[in-house]
Amino acid sequence: MNRRIKAIISIFCLTAIILTGCSNMTNNNLSEGSSDDLLWWQKTNAYEIYVNSFQDSDGDGYGDLNGIRSKLDHLKSLGVGAVWLTPVYESPMMDNGYDVADYYAINPRYGTMEDMDALIKEADEKGIHVVMDLVFNHTSDQNEWFLASKKSRDNEYSDWYIWRDPKEDGSEPNNWRSIFGGSAWTWCEERQQYYLHTFASAQPDLNWENPDVRQALCDIANFWIEKGAGGFRMDAIPYIKKPADFSDGPVDDSEGRADIHKMTANTDGILDFLSEFKTKVTEGKDVFTVGEANGVSPDQLKYWVGSEGVFDMIFEFSHVNLDFKESETWCKTGSWLLTDLKKALTDSQKATASNGWYPIYFENHDKPRSIDHFFPGNTDPVLAGKALGTVLLTLRGTPFIYQGEELGFTNVAWDSIDDYDDLNSHSQYEIALSEGFSEEEALDCVHRLSRDNARTPMQWDISDQAGFTTGTPWLPVHDDYINENAETESKDPSSVLSWYRKLTSFRSEKAVLINGAYKELLPESEEIYAFERKNENDRIVILVNFTGEDVSYDPEKAGIDKAAGEKILHSSYEDIKDSAPASIGNLRPYEAVLIGR
Ligand code: NOJ
Repeated sequence: MNRRIKAIISIFCLTAIILTGCSNMTNNNLSEGSSDDLLWWQKTNAYEIYVNSFQDSDGDGYGDLNGIRSKLDHLKSLGVGAVWLTPVYESPMMDNGYDVADYYAINPRYGTMEDMDALIKEADEKGIHVVMDLVFNHTSDQNEWFLASKKSRDNEYSDWYIWRDPKEDGSEPNNWRSIFGGSAWTWCEERQQYYLHTFASAQPDLNWENPDVRQALCDIANFWIEKGAGGFRMDAIPYIKKPADFSDGPVDDSEGRADIHKMTANTDGILDFLSEFKTKVTEGKDVFTVGEANGVSPDQLKYWVGSEGVFDMIFEFSHVNLDFKESETWCKTGSWLLTDLKKALTDSQKATASNGWYPIYFENHDKPRSIDHFFPGNTDPVLAGKALGTVLLTLRGTPFIYQGEELGFTNVAWDSIDDYDDLNSHSQYEIALSEGFSEEEALDCVHRLSRDNARTPMQWDISDQAGFTTGTPWLPVHDDYINENAETESKDPSSVLSWYRKLTSFRSEKAVLINGAYKELLPESEEIYAFERKNENDRIVILVNFTGEDVSYDPEKAGIDKAAGEKILHSSYEDIKDSAPASIGNLRPYEAVLIGR
């Protein structure tokens, strides 16, 4: 939708609100089974692009905006109507763009503002809205605001960040540990004070208590709406509000530190900041918001999403962090059962049944590849990719596909920690050594959990560097690219990509997959994830075998009514050469089926 039409709709809606008190366009509250009142972002598929690694158009080894423009048809083939770009603003790239130096400028590595305008326009013409990543908890330490703030205690920007005096002995103001490891405080010689950073020291936290900071952030978001952005993913939201009490927290590591997440996340008052943002930025406009909001409990959800909430959706982490139940450090993670995963997903489905809307995801740029995360090491990636893809594309909510997931990408395992770029992989490696793990064990943990697993370049074809660049890619292309690439998979009806295309197209035809209520089936099973989607006219049962064995189940217990004509509509084996037809009551290894009339 172009800006003009959006502006007309906004004026129309504002008038309607005044005259009738109608609810705003972004946060309508949906009850299960309603159909026509869904908004565009609830009926479409979203796709996350990690810009560094998607497509390079100028041979410098980094993805860029013109590269994205050249691949919009790939997104179209997956029914994508919203594309979330990781930060494209000017940045020293200490954390690949999550350290913003200038929110109003495009990173020259990625192109120019003209390229950005062209991307928004061309995407729009193909029915794809560009979603910007707003990194508002912190900036780069090279941002002008911070450069001014650190100069003195009495200039216009002095109070834009969180500064504290040292303890009497000169040490940090408290013992909080940053999310990337080490103290959350860094000393500034110039100002003779410490500043707080929830993440790396190059990412100082903004002081949201200061109304000028909040206004500056609203202005940035409005600038991008004016440019034609269709929505925002809002980074690291739980941390924007700091508690009044800055005293030491309970020590939980060998360095005498306390986890900053436990000390500051989702502090009372955070919703006031966010509702101000909603009022000043998104309310009444045809854009959606999805907050990265780890740790919001189901009883709080109604304040976060839905008609009364501050966002349209929130990414929460319960299903992707099952192994982090006991510890946040990478070598101390624990195991989980299929019933744990099913419970986490079912809880989120139930919590968003009447409050807001759920963004379905298994992968993003901070997580390892889902095939390795959710299945044992020797699993056939094609079957596993189709199995997870089936859940992703049939739960209730908006599916967020992460680049490469639709091709069945798997983790990398490089020889040395020096081969890894991700700053968090380096700090987690050091933490593992300090916990007493050997170098080999620490590297194993990096292989399993590194964010670089998800950041290797996209694999487009079998040419050099998988068609990603004509130069040297900033991260090596995965060895598997000869088999796993968009061109080869497009020609193979049994590939992960073909399955994604089939299911996204099926989803767009079957209203029940968009608006139908969710009900879990076979909840006790440690082998099968089964659920139903149902509206007043239609019903589909989805069954996914999470094991490498043949598994049978009782169709009646799975709620399948053969007498009423329910049959297998799709099986992930159906295009595999010489494979037998799928049968109700049995699932082959990692088989996924959709049953309905
Ligand atoms: C979450 C982002 O997804 C991650 O990539 C980044 O490092 C942190 N927030 C800090 O911005």
